[in-house]
Amino acid sequence: MKIAVLTGGGDAPGLNAVIQGIVTKATEYGYEVFGVPKGYEGLIEGVFRPLRLEDVEDIYKIGGTILKTSRTNPYKTADDAKKALDNVRKNKIDVLIAIGGEDTLGAANKLLKDGMPVIGVPKTIDNDLSETDYSIGFQTAASIAAESVEHLHTTAKSHERVLVVEIMGRHAGWITLYAGLAGGAHVILLPEEPFDIEAICEVVKKRDERGKNYTIIAASEGAKPKDAKDLITATAELDEYGHIRLGGIGEVLAREIEKRTGKETRHVVLGHLQRSGAPIPFDRVLGLRLGVHAAKLAKEKKFGYAASLSGTRIVTVKIDDLVKELKTVDKDLFELTELFSAV
Ligand code: F6P
Repeated sequence: MKIAVLTGGGDAPGLNAVIQGIVTKATEYGYEVFGVPKGYEGLIEGVFRPLRLEDVEDIYKIGGTILKTSRTNPYKTADDAKKALDNVRKNKIDVLIAIGGEDTLGAANKLLKDGMPVIGVPKTIDNDLSETDYSIGFQTAASIAAESVEHLHTTAKSHERVLVVEIMGRHAGWITLYAGLAGGAHVILLPEEPFDIEAICEVVKKRDERGKNYTIIAASEGAKPKDAKDLITATAELDEYGHIRLGGIGEVLAREIEKRTGKETRHVVLGHLQRSGAPIPFDRVLGLRLGVHAAKLAKEKKFGYAASLSGTRIVTVKIDDLVKELKTVDKDLFELTELFSAV
């Protein structure tokens, strides 16, 4: 059997562990594995590079993806999708394992319907894919963000400032929820619950009255004010899947809070630091397990299915179910942030 593997969308710590898991298990089966560079870009160009055991030795500890990645959408033009399908047939690839988030797996699902045998592995630091309890990279990103929020306390306290921390997460506030709760933010803003700027300023003022002269605000890049129609962004740029490039909420909020409270307010954008560096043990182990399971699915020819995490078990789910709707933060978890982050 010939297996091709690609990683698409934003990189995430733990991707290399998935790749090592796939190659190790597939080699045990006596299969050949090929790496497709730069996500769907490599598939459209028809690049398949052999991936042997020696190529993946010990990569499970390393961040990023040895295959490189891109946000290339094979369905941007009908021609690109046809090229991708032809390349898989021409190179006699029996199955493509696509490791990615909603865009990459959504495109994989379309390729499946157009006749390509595909298997999926869920990956996104945003943790917003359904049918998987955690996706690769989330736990690492959440711990980087939580540590950063915690660290910011000392400087905010020393200067008696308000600090707004902008945290990744397009439409779901999972990273912000974990970072805010674990790092001890005083206000937590998620895309799921539009915020009231006056209520935030009240928290700042009340903390001052109590002699706590600093406030940390953890704001998801997708958080929205109650009365706003659109997201706050620094640019109007769209990617190939039509998603707006987020970012900018931290700066806007900091300006507004300073204006309304008269208190010195700064913002910090954690940005790509959240996706950088080595995966924590959770993502290393999860990655290896998902990779091994994906190779088993290839052996069983379970096309259209993906390896996924349910509780502590690795299970098989339909790619369709992973991407059909976004997994957002539940109301009870949001209420927890209100209980613990308050004044
Ligand atoms: O989807 C993962 C993610 O890290 C989002 O949290 C963020 O909005 C986006 O990717 C950033 O993408 P890029 O690295 O392409 O700017």
